Amino acid sequence: MINLKDKVAVLTGGGGGIGRAAAEKLARQGMYVVLLGGNNHDKLEQTRQLVEKYSRCLVLPGDLTDLDFIAAGVAEIIRICGRSDVLINNAGVAQNTPFEKVSAAEYDRIMAINTRTPFFLTQQLLPFLKKSDAATVINIASVVGHAGYPLQSVYTASKHALLGWTKSLARECYRDNIRVHAICPGGVYTDMVKLSRPDLTGEGMIMPEEIAEIIMFFLANRGNAVIDEILVHRVNKEPFLV
Ligand SMILES: NC(=O)c1ccc[n+]([C@@H]2O[C@H](COP(=O)([O-])OP(=O)(O)OC[C@H]3O[C@@H](n4cnc5c(N)ncnc54)[C@H](OP(=O)(O)O)[C@@H]3O)[C@@H](O)[C@H]2O)c1
Repeated sequence: MINLKDKVAVLTGGGGGIGRAAAEKLARQGMYVVLLGGNNHDKLEQTRQLVEKYSRCLVLPGDLTDLDFIAAGVAEIIRICGRSDVLINNAGVAQNTPFEKVSAAEYDRIMAINTRTPFFLTQQLLPFLKKSDAATVINIASVVGHAGYPLQSVYTASKHALLGWTKSLARECYRDNIRVHAICPGGVYTDMVKLSRPDLTGEGMIMPEEIAEIIMFFLANRGNAVIDEILVHRVNKEPFLV
């Protein structure tokens, strides 16, 4: 088991849902938690208060689709924290749009946050991850990275693409002792689902804390058995059904 105390975890999408649940669990292990990006300052502040019950927290709000923000954010993390050990690419946006109505602007926005942002953030942090004995990248993909859902054409494409480069990076980085994983959850009861699938009530759905537990499992298990990807289905549903 790796001792995670004082290691630096960079987490996107930390303002709520899966990100906040993960932030709390990272902090409970004594990790220095960096909440990178996000537009809702109140929600980020609530997560900061939760993290600071157990550990240290650095909050850097901003738009992660802006590559300059990513570069400045990484520089700030290294300046203040001095290192980066774990990256959790969690920020994302869903959609609920008929295929024929998807605009180029919506396409670009979803692909930018779900696929391009984690790609270039990982690229920027890679030199620092290479120096860590706990280096881990965890990409929060989705079961839509395997299946396809109506009204979610761009979201589905973005998570397929995320899963694609996750696999490539895992092979490219293993010699540097950097572990690269994907988690593909089915329906998790967060604000994203409440907005994009108002028909769902939360009953029988996966809770954000359950995904956070799986993140911690990845971090704690760095033996010879490498896990590429974990698919997380709802207990009462056929696989791949949200
Ligand atoms: N909920 C599910 O059923 C489910 C299933 C499979 C996978 N996932 C994935 O899990 C991840 C977390 O989602 P969630 O369910 O926890 O929903 P959530 O609470 O809506 O979290 C999404 C986060 O992404 C951040 N974000 C969005 N656009 C951003 C941008 N341009 N710059 C910076 N931050 C941005 C949001 O911050 P602001 O609110 O501050 O903008 C928010 O904190 C996503 O990647 C999602 O695709 C979710």
